[in-house]
Amino acid sequence: MANIKFFSGKTTPIEMHRVRIIQKLNLLPIEERQAAIKQAGNNTFLLKNADVFLDMLTDSGVNAMSNDQLAAMSQADDSYAGSATFYRLEKALQHVFEMEYFLPAHQGRACEHVLSKTFVKKGQVVPMNYHFTTSKAHITELGGEILEIPVKDAFEMTSTCPFKGNMDIDALKKVIAERGKEGIAYVRMEAGTNLIGGQPFSLENLLAVSKICRASGIPLVQDVSLLSDNLHFIKQREASCKDKSIHEIAKAMAAASDIIYFSGRKLGFARGGGICTGNKQYYLDIRGFIPLYEGFLTYGGMSVREMEALAVGMYETLDEDVISQGPQFIEFMTNELIKHNVPVVTPPGGLGCHLNARDFLPHLPQTQYTAGALASALYIISGVRGMERGTMSEQRNEDGTEPLAHMELVRLALPRRVFTMSQIVYAVDRINWLYQNRNLVGGLQWLDEPKILRFFYGTLEPIGDWQQKLAAKFKKDFGDSL
Ligand code: F0G
Repeated sequence: MANIKFFSGKTTPIEMHRVRIIQKLNLLPIEERQAAIKQAGNNTFLLKNADVFLDMLTDSGVNAMSNDQLAAMSQADDSYAGSATFYRLEKALQHVFEMEYFLPAHQGRACEHVLSKTFVKKGQVVPMNYHFTTSKAHITELGGEILEIPVKDAFEMTSTCPFKGNMDIDALKKVIAERGKEGIAYVRMEAGTNLIGGQPFSLENLLAVSKICRASGIPLVQDVSLLSDNLHFIKQREASCKDKSIHEIAKAMAAASDIIYFSGRKLGFARGGGICTGNKQYYLDIRGFIPLYEGFLTYGGMSVREMEALAVGMYETLDEDVISQGPQFIEFMTNELIKHNVPVVTPPGGLGCHLNARDFLPHLPQTQYTAGALASALYIISGVRGMERGTMSEQRNEDGTEPLAHMELVRLALPRRVFTMSQIVYAVDRINWLYQNRNLVGGLQWLDEPKILRFFYGTLEPIGDWQQKLAAKFKKDFGDSL
């Protein structure tokens, strides 16, 4: 984002783009919102978008496209094999990362699937800074296990640590000493660490991890789905990178890794995914799974129109004005909530603003899905759809016990270039009201609990009649306002 000073002395992030195409929004009356969340089993994933006012569920596949991306889509070359579109995307990725080989896949988890198939053997471990739901599920599905070794600040809700996504280097050395090269499938570093609040790692930390992996002959796999946020933070927060260009930082991150993969629903402002590597053997090892599970090697399950948009989006990712819009809006929203004492994760990260549900609702035990209950309550009182990132997003243990999540968060994602400042101000206003009325919010219990990735489609019900009481208080305070 450009450096623009205000005469007033205030700093407000400014959109370095203008809106050319719009989608009309709908804010239902509270009674209808109550009915909608009931029908959705108190799971915001199951809400119909027509019933949602501000969709802050995710930044995945819902980022706004640029006019250049839209223009590029019209030149898509729709051929099964050897399409010119593929070569344009390959060229864009080779430009950004300077890695020779590119394998397309339909989205991020598809990359995780084929990478796990290629590298993970039963009993092996994958050390990582922190897991993402799908990355963990693919590894455990194949009999592997994950080991999370972030720095200890990662779990501090409020911190001044600029790089909470860093890996604990001593812990990495320890696991390598204990398990040896054979016991470790690969080491995974996740840029813009999703589940701990979109927190970045530093280039220095990545380089240290890389050095250890290379000395031990263990592949380093980097999940760069949230690369654009991490690039912004490295440039902003890492003194030694202050004078580096975004592209130089991206290339240094790629050079430190053996394989990188991404969800094109986040990186590149489009939809799709892919795997890049400079290692021919890894490329050959992974390659066979692409036609088997994804599609032929020159589309990998993606539509060629999306691939064209992704190629342009990759170049846009190198533009500081473009990639700083998200983190700056998130910082603004987080700081506004702090002014009202609302508990949030700090420092502000990428992806979205994260409410700390355990401090927001200290009277609710995690076994009643604190963050799930908060997400449900927030939708009822505002029409804002957030996402539970806590115990509901965990998987029940084989013995039926409930693994309580390290953190109970409600993620309010800000898809890139989508929301305007007044919409952020509205969300802050309603969250503040909810915080003042937090004692009215009760817990949830399962109605239908699926075994795998239950948070996506499981349904829950409120414990008691707290939702009616909450809606009644809203009516009392807001009258006939939506
Ligand atoms: N890795 C990270 C860090 C992610 O955040 C995601 C998706 C994936 C991999 C999987 O990619 O969705 O294209 O299959 N995150 C989405 C989210 C779902 O809402 O945070 P995908």
